[in-house]
Amino acid sequence: VRAAVDVFERAASDPTAELFNTARERSLLPYFRPAGSAVAPRVEVDGEPRLMLASANYLGLADHPAVIAGARDALERYGGSTTGSRLLNGTLDLHEELEAEIADWLQTEDALVFSTGYQANVGAISALVGPGDTVVVDSSDHASIIDGSVLSRAKMRAFKHDRLDLLEETLDLAVRDGGGVLVVVDGVFSMSGGVARVPEIARLCAERGARLLVDEAHGTGVLGERGTGASELFGVEDRVDLRMGALSKALGAAGGFIAGPRPVIDYLRVTARALLFTTSGVPAALGAALAAVRLRRSEEGRERAAATLANAIFFRDALERAGFSVPPLVDVPSGERLVPPIVPVFVGDDATAITMWRDLYDNGIHTSVALYPAVARGRALLRSCVMATHAREDLERAVGAFERAAAAPVNPELERV
Ligand SMILES: Cc1ncc(COP(=O)(O)O)c(C=O)c1O
Repeated sequence: VRAAVDVFERAASDPTAELFNTARERSLLPYFRPAGSAVAPRVEVDGEPRLMLASANYLGLADHPAVIAGARDALERYGGSTTGSRLLNGTLDLHEELEAEIADWLQTEDALVFSTGYQANVGAISALVGPGDTVVVDSSDHASIIDGSVLSRAKMRAFKHDRLDLLEETLDLAVRDGGGVLVVVDGVFSMSGGVARVPEIARLCAERGARLLVDEAHGTGVLGERGTGASELFGVEDRVDLRMGALSKALGAAGGFIAGPRPVIDYLRVTARALLFTTSGVPAALGAALAAVRLRRSEEGRERAAATLANAIFFRDALERAGFSVPPLVDVPSGERLVPPIVPVFVGDDATAITMWRDLYDNGIHTSVALYPAVARGRALLRSCVMATHAREDLERAVGAFERAAAAPVNPELERV
C-alpha cells in the first residue's frame, strides 16, 4: 500500500504557490525583495536606493550607534550563539538584565524574554490555556496569537474585529464553556494600524473573571508617555493582566517578551514550550535590545517617540488631503490627535493594490501590500510605516508618489494573474 496523496506533488501544484511563481516570473511580486543595507529611511532594495516605508523600525533605532554597540559588545563577549535552551545553558546574565529592565519599564513584577515575538505569544498562550479552556481572539489578531491558541488545544472563539458587542456575547459563551477564559487582542493591529479599545475590553474581561493578554508588539516603544504600548496610552496598565511586547520593531533589535505578575511569569518560565525547546536568542540581539530599551527610556527616546507620532499624523493627514482612504484618529483620553506609525491606504481590489505598489516601487518607494487572504476580499491595502528619522520631504515625496500610483492604469497582466 502507498499513501493516498503525495504531499510533495500537492505542494508543487498549490494554487497560491503557482500565483506566486507567475507573479515572480513577471517581476510583479511585492514580496521577498532583498535589501542590501541596514534599515533606515533609505535602504538599498533590489540594488537600488529606495525610501523605506515598509519597516517597523518606528524609532529609527535599528542602525543607531548605541544599539549597534550593544549588539557588538554582546557578540564579542558571548559569541555568535548561546547554543542552548533558556532552561539549560542558554540563559545569559544579559537575559536577566534585560528582563529586569523590561519589568522596571513596564512596572510589572517580572518579564520573560523569548527569541522572537512570535514565540512569546505562542509560548504564553499555549501554556496558559489547554483542553477544557477557551481562548477568545479578535478576528484580526496576529497569526502568532492564532497559532498559540491552536497549539493550546483550548476552544478558540473569535469575535469580529473591534466589535465589542460581539466580544461581550462571545465572552458569555466562553464562560459557559466551563473552563478558564483568556482573551487576547493586538494593542495595535499590524495591518490596519487600528488600536484596540483596551479599557472597555479590560472591563468586559474583569466582569466575567476572564484574563486579558494584550499584544503590544507595535505599541512597544511608541505609545504612552513611557512608550510601553496601548495599555499605558489608555491608562489601564493595572487592568491588563499580561502584556506581550516586541524587541524587533520600534526597538530595532529582535525578540519578544511577556510581562506581568511574578507567579505567572515563573509558571511560563518552566512551561512555555516555545521558550524551553529552542535555542535562546542570539547574544547580539539581546545586547541590541537592552541598549534600545535603555535608549527609549532616555530623553532621546522620548524625543524619538514624539517625532515618530508627529510624522505619523503628518503623513496620514497629507494622504487624506490627497483624497486617500486612511484610518481615523485614535480616541485617546488626552484628546490629542494621534495615530500609530502604521498608516495604511485602503485601496480595494488586489490588482489595483499590486499596480500601485509596483508604481511606487519603480518610483523608489518601498511600501508593503496586503492582499486577500491577509485582509478581507476587496479590502487590499498598501501599508506605510513611518519612522522618527523620516524627513518631512521624504513623506511629502511619498504622498506625491501615491497620487501618481493611484492614476496608473491597472496592469493587464495582473488581471490574468
Ligand atoms: C501584532 C504582532 N504580534 C507579534 C508579532 C511577532 O513578533 P516578531 O516579529 O518579533 O516575531 C508581530 C510581528 O511580526 C506582530 O505584528
